[in-house]
Amino acid sequence: MADKKAQLIIEGAAPIDLPVYSGTLGPDVIDVRGLTAEGVFTFDPGFMATSSCESKITFIDGDNGILLHRGYPIEQLAEKSDFLETCYLLLKGELPHAEEKQKFDSTIKNHTMVHEQLKNFLNGFRRDGHPMAIMCGVVGALSAFYHDSLDINNAQHREISAIRLIAKMPTIAAMVYKYSMGQPLMYPNNELSYSENFLHMMFNTPAEIKPIDPILARAMDRIFVLHADHEQNASTSTVRLAGSTGANPFACVAAGIAALWGPAHGGANEAVLRMLDEIGDVSNIDTFIAKAKDKDDPFKLMGFGHRVYKNFDPRAKVMKETCDEVLGLLGINDPQLELAMKLEEIALSDPYFVERNLYPNVDFYSGIILKAIGIPAELFTVIFATGRTPGWIAHWNEMISNPYKIGRPRQLYTGHTKRDYPNN
Ligand code: CMC
Repeated sequence: MADKKAQLIIEGAAPIDLPVYSGTLGPDVIDVRGLTAEGVFTFDPGFMATSSCESKITFIDGDNGILLHRGYPIEQLAEKSDFLETCYLLLKGELPHAEEKQKFDSTIKNHTMVHEQLKNFLNGFRRDGHPMAIMCGVVGALSAFYHDSLDINNAQHREISAIRLIAKMPTIAAMVYKYSMGQPLMYPNNELSYSENFLHMMFNTPAEIKPIDPILARAMDRIFVLHADHEQNASTSTVRLAGSTGANPFACVAAGIAALWGPAHGGANEAVLRMLDEIGDVSNIDTFIAKAKDKDDPFKLMGFGHRVYKNFDPRAKVMKETCDEVLGLLGINDPQLELAMKLEEIALSDPYFVERNLYPNVDFYSGIILKAIGIPAELFTVIFATGRTPGWIAHWNEMISNPYKIGRPRQLYTGHTKRDYPNN
């Protein structure tokens, strides 16, 4: 099955033949699994040059700014599809026919409510706890509420867990928000679309139910679509690694939420807004650009740079268009957007950023739209987690449905050699 062969020559030893595989797109990969038998390992901290698995779900060409889900470009999905259709595509591999779509939507709707007792669980958290801390705990706890579907070797169990996770994430996200506000929790309304329902649970109260603005619902849906999957990113790899031990899907997704929270990953959207607050005014941009370039200063321009995209982030392009559209339609003139645009302009013409291919990423614009919709900054990464859920589940399911091994990297040990415990 190897298309080509690579040869590894270690000084003083015979050459080692390694198979090389070609995917349908992307660079060839060298299969290094045989190296363990030769007494050597590869060394790749941060997995800069390592494919951890074979996958058919998402393809990224970072040099050319291409992102495909099951072959479909993200720009086309953002324009023509909706979030639930994108979920179906990620999970099942093909776009649904009209009847399949209608059935999938209605199945998701049937599972939007959470177990009533989950409210008691929520009550155990401090109201000023970070929403990601609460979401991580609540999603992990779902395995204690839905233990009728935890047999990972049963395809039906996996399917029902996938549906439950996608359906309940917006309900949980809105519960976390209402809890922090001290407002009554809103039950889902299955008359509404996925994104309308999320906004309904977020912003309506039992005392006042207002219709959801279709512009905001469309923008929300697009944000979910743009976050739906991103191949083997840190949180998805975390979900796969946790899943490789045989852990249940709720526990694996909770692990993914924890990994997503970091500011280098999904936590960047919240960090972008905090950074814009800190910069405060266009006149301070030069000072912050200098800080970002100073190797002795830990400050980084949040929302800039990406491990894989070294040209532009195609999600950021669509997100920027959505941002302009939403702010224009809502007639919002946000001074932070002006500040963000100026920052982008200066950074993109500065040799430090140009030489390192540091472009605005998806998180640079999403915060501005979310803010316009009325979502507080602490909740931004919760929105990312809600959107990323189908990706996490699709990858987990792909792994479990095929032969897999527990994920267990090795190391280059540089500690003490063996020594004896002192006698005195
Ligand atoms: N501001 C200033 N310098 C930067 C930045 C930045 N945002 N990002 C990278 N650099 C520099 C970095 O210091 C390094 O410089 P040098 O070569 O002189 O040592 C060079 O650019 C390469 O960066 P790196 O840290 O080796 O790249 P990486 O692939 O390990 O990290 C990253 C990628 C996204 C973690 C990083 O660019 C970063 O921390 N960005 C800010 C956080 C952010 O916006 N994250 C969201 C990513 S998109 C959403 C998602 O998919 O999670």
